Amino acid sequence: MTGSPHRITAATTVAAVIGSPVRHSLSPVLQAAAFAQLGLDWTMVAFEVAAGDGAAAVAAMGALGLGGMAVTMPLKAEVAAAVDERDPAAAALRSVNTVVRLPDGRTRGMSTDGDGFVDSLLTAGVDPAGMTVLVIGAGGAGRSIVDALGRRGAAAITVVNRTDTAAVEAARLSPVATAAPIGDIVGVAGGADLIVNTTSVGMGVDPSAPDAAAQVAVPVEALAAHHVVADIVYHPLRTVLLEAAAAAGATSVDGLGMLVHQAARQCLAWTGERPDPAAMRAAAEAELAARHR
Ligand code: ATR
Repeated sequence: MTGSPHRITAATTVAAVIGSPVRHSLSPVLQAAAFAQLGLDWTMVAFEVAAGDGAAAVAAMGALGLGGMAVTMPLKAEVAAAVDERDPAAAALRSVNTVVRLPDGRTRGMSTDGDGFVDSLLTAGVDPAGMTVLVIGAGGAGRSIVDALGRRGAAAITVVNRTDTAAVEAARLSPVATAAPIGDIVGVAGGADLIVNTTSVGMGVDPSAPDAAAQVAVPVEALAAHHVVADIVYHPLRTVLLEAAAAAGATSVDGLGMLVHQAARQCLAWTGERPDPAAMRAAAEAELAARHR
């Protein structure tokens, strides 16, 4: 990264990211890049906030005059319950990753993950509207993606998950979504335009490692040139799944895009200004490279 560090003064607006553990969060780096690119006198700091203290942290926003709050594990559900109002995604998911302080002092909770994922597809030139989608995984990320793809106009979404009950639950988030048993994954993948891995499978796995081929959420034989394959794992950036997708001639979309775009939406919600995602992505890539040197 270039440029001199932002000079923090008593006039600087402070945003917070809260969670536990929070020390590995990329949010401060992403938001610092956004604030710098926009020329805003803002900064973000991370606060280690334990489960059960989410509501107190939200209440402290007003007392401290924080400009905004990002929320990560394990606080997303308790913060969703603590805010005064919720956007449609946060209400549907009962999960909040962004808190905005309204001019009247009330708090509004948002969930920008799913829409951030859709933004990452659009940036890659892929519009999921009208597509048939396989979503693998039904955790917090998977649920947000099912919700957002449904709102964006996906034609059909099939959710498969190691644990079937969670897939059924996630499929309730969109009228176009259904659940299928994990044993049907190859058949479902064959009929899909877009395949999304929302599980942690592949995280930290070097595609050139001897046992790497087994570390994929969908059998690689199911991948074909007509597919768009997206992974939400971003370490490594080129996961085993994305390498296999590329080898099959498919279009691949990496997981850093979702992280960057959900953060860009947070910055817009807090500051009213739309940052350049490319500047944020460059900062995140530099940070990840420094961490994994
Ligand atoms: P996140 O908020 O990142 O989505 P999560 O809520 O813990 O994290 O969800 C993790 C998802 O990855 C779940 O769908 C989980 O499957 P289960 O519901 O069966 O637990 C999935 N997952 C994690 N490890 C997995 C593995 N080794 N194989 C298959 N699925 C896995």
